[in-house]
Amino acid sequence: MPSADNPTPSGQDAPWKFAHVTDIHIGSERSFRFNPAFNDNWETARRQIMDLNPDLLLVGGDIARDGSIHDFEFANSCASIDEAGIPWHVIPGNMDTGNKVTELDGPWTERDDPSLNVTEELLENFRQRVRPFPWTFLHRGIRFSGFYEIVTGTELPTDLEARRWLEELATLPPARRHIMLNHYPLFVHEPDEVAYDLTDKDHYHDWYFGLDPEPRRFLMDAYRKANVTHVLSGHIHCRRPPIEVDGIVYCKGPSTAFPQFGDHFPDGDDTLGFLVFTVAEDTVTPEFVPLEKVSRRTDARGPGGHPKPEARIYGGHQERDGN
Ligand SMILES: [Fe+2]
Repeated sequence: MPSADNPTPSGQDAPWKFAHVTDIHIGSERSFRFNPAFNDNWETARRQIMDLNPDLLLVGGDIARDGSIHDFEFANSCASIDEAGIPWHVIPGNMDTGNKVTELDGPWTERDDPSLNVTEELLENFRQRVRPFPWTFLHRGIRFSGFYEIVTGTELPTDLEARRWLEELATLPPARRHIMLNHYPLFVHEPDEVAYDLTDKDHYHDWYFGLDPEPRRFLMDAYRKANVTHVLSGHIHCRRPPIEVDGIVYCKGPSTAFPQFGDHFPDGDDTLGFLVFTVAEDTVTPEFVPLEKVSRRTDARGPGGHPKPEARIYGGHQERDGN
């Protein structure tokens, strides 16, 4: 196979691919809730990815349905991703390690936002049970980096470590391209959007989906200094056209598990699938790959969203929070 060390006869590397999946939400029968359709859909995506045979698989967080509640879901998710037989690189998502931090509660009685905040304990749990992060590496002259952006500004040890890591990234020699993997998009609608009020029903989801202005500005600046060229995100479960800001292309990827908020954005499309990027000499081109088959199973059980502990339903064989 042609590679950086073994180029094609023309002297140029042949085009090659990497794939980006996010919000795969592999669940478990042992959990207080389970939707087998999410697992079916992931298995369909995995088969399609294996057929495409990319060099790398980037997994953009939310690898579990309820990893922040049930530790055991992580082993399940890792084993299932391993089955693709493709080198994979992962960052956490909010259902793995907790949500964007707030001291205020949103307008919904069925959820308690401050109790969902990301914590250092959950981040460490992910590092121990899944993979360490942040990370950066070179592959065929392209730099790949990943970290959980929503910690920015929290002053958690993971935030302080990530800031040092970003400073180090800016000192590295520029690569041909630099792909940054995130979970939350840095902005929901516009790069200079305001801080949304989570107590306002009309703006709760705008708050929930993206970063506040201060950490967003910090990261956009840090990414420019680190010569980042592409930022891949998930979380909203809704693909939107890539947008270029100050020379960086921001790609909002779809979920493989379940669609969400296709009608929230004028240019949104919540069709399930994943992105595959073709790298040629001077280009990195994303392409959406829809799932060939979306599961029609209707035997899901348990509530959606972020139910409070008292709303989590445990039958005889389901396990309570923890491991
Ligand atoms: Fe998700």
